[in-house]
Amino acid sequence: MIWQIIAFTALLLAQDASAQRGNPGSTAFLRFGCSQLVVERIDPLVNPGQNPSTHTHQIVGGNSFNSSMDPHTIDPPAQSTCTSCIYTEDTSNYWTASIYFQSPENGTFKRVPQMANGRANGTLLEQEGGLTVYYMKPFSGKNMKTTAFPVGFRMLAGNPLNRNLSTMAAGLCHRCLAASERTMGGNGAPCDKNDYGAFPPKPCPGGIRTTVIFPSCWDGKNLDSPDHRSHVAYAPGTHSQATWNSALAGDKCPDTHPVRIPQVMYEVMFDTTQFNNPDYWKNGKQPLVYSFGDPTGYGAHGDYLFGWKGDALQRGMDALGNGCSSEDCTSALKIQSGKDAIACTKAQIAKEDVGTGSWLKELPGGVQVM
Ligand SMILES: *[C@@H]1O[C@H](CO)[C@@H](O)[C@H](O)[C@H]1NC(C)=O
Ligand SMILES: *[C@@H]1O[C@H](CO)[C@@H](O)[C@H](O)[C@H]1NC(C)=O
Ligand SMILES: *[C@@H]1O[C@H](CO)[C@@H](O)[C@H](O)[C@H]1NC(C)=O
Ligand SMILES: *[C@@H]1O[C@H](CO)[C@@H](O)[C@H](O)[C@H]1NC(C)=O
Repeated sequence: MIWQIIAFTALLLAQDASAQRGNPGSTAFLRFGCSQLVVERIDPLVNPGQNPSTHTHQIVGGNSFNSSMDPHTIDPPAQSTCTSCIYTEDTSNYWTASIYFQSPENGTFKRVPQMANGRANGTLLEQEGGLTVYYMKPFSGKNMKTTAFPVGFRMLAGNPLNRNLSTMAAGLCHRCLAASERTMGGNGAPCDKNDYGAFPPKPCPGGIRTTVIFPSCWDGKNLDSPDHRSHVAYAPGTHSQATWNSALAGDKCPDTHPVRIPQVMYEVMFDTTQFNNPDYWKNGKQPLVYSFGDPTGYGAHGDYLFGWKGDALQRGMDALGNGCSSEDCTSALKIQSGKDAIACTKAQIAKEDVGTGSWLKELPGGVQVM
């Protein structure tokens, strides 16, 4: 949920808590829905040029998404003819791994559908599957400038190989939503004591919200790095009530990564309700598995590939607090209807059944659960 993210920061609480609810003058982040572009095994960040890539992703954003997107030659705003995000100048790509239900009865897999997230006014964002994207300013200094990403920039948050809470990347977590939290996605800070690093150990009547928080500091030079992570860094945290909460940073970037970029966050809403039969969640077991074979949830990750048109992202970030609010920044940015965003889809490059409404004998790519 959105404004509460900020509310947990004591520094902002007093001045902003009420303002977040309706006063467009003081939000410190852009927040918008992006519908599903395609679900497939393509990953231009980790497996460039590979068709198919190792595991299934859900991708949103500009339809110039492709198996290889060379940082030095791509031009997403020019190469895209539409975007599945609400802000039309945003042809970035955002993607995360899919979640599958594995039947405890017969071992087959079905993809867990995704669902729309809630808006500030209590209605659902007009989005079909997809995810919600945030670009956040520093918590304690709304007037502090953030520097938008350069063309070609990309990064990865989380580590698909991780299987242990103690080594789970900062800023990734799962929340088990009560039925009453279905629309608004739950209260409080992201990745606080209400969240799990792992998949929730029990059925979630309102579905599961996965949060992916990216680092907020950049080395100022590299568009990417060999592990897709070390050119960026989380600012040393001032909030560490939960192991992985330290991603919600202090505002000072380290000398190695001095450039304060907008902090990107995803919320991904998974509709688990058709799998909530308590028989599937017995004896300490839960039946969900990530598309890369992770039955723990500790390997959660997200991929980001910058693709805003010209200086649009910078314009949006600079306008925050000046008549531009999270879901309605029309003073600085162009917005399209949810219907038009939903209409922007793309055929699979890696054509296969990814288990949407069907049962698969194995995970796409023959990925083993381990
Ligand atoms: C994807 O890449 C292929 C091969 O480089 C190219 O032919 C195709 O036009 C690209 N598609 C898009 C949507 O950019
Ligand atoms: C496997 O189990 C699921 C429920 O757990 C069921 O819906 C599905 O039909 C079963 N498939 C087969 C081939 O038995
Ligand atoms: C909620 O906000 C959306 C987008 O601004 C608007 O279209 C919708 O009418 C609003 N709904 C209510 C009930 O206020
Ligand atoms: C997770 O890490 C902790 C601390 O390093 C270690 O004690 C524990 O055995 C690990 N658990 C697994 C399942 O690897």
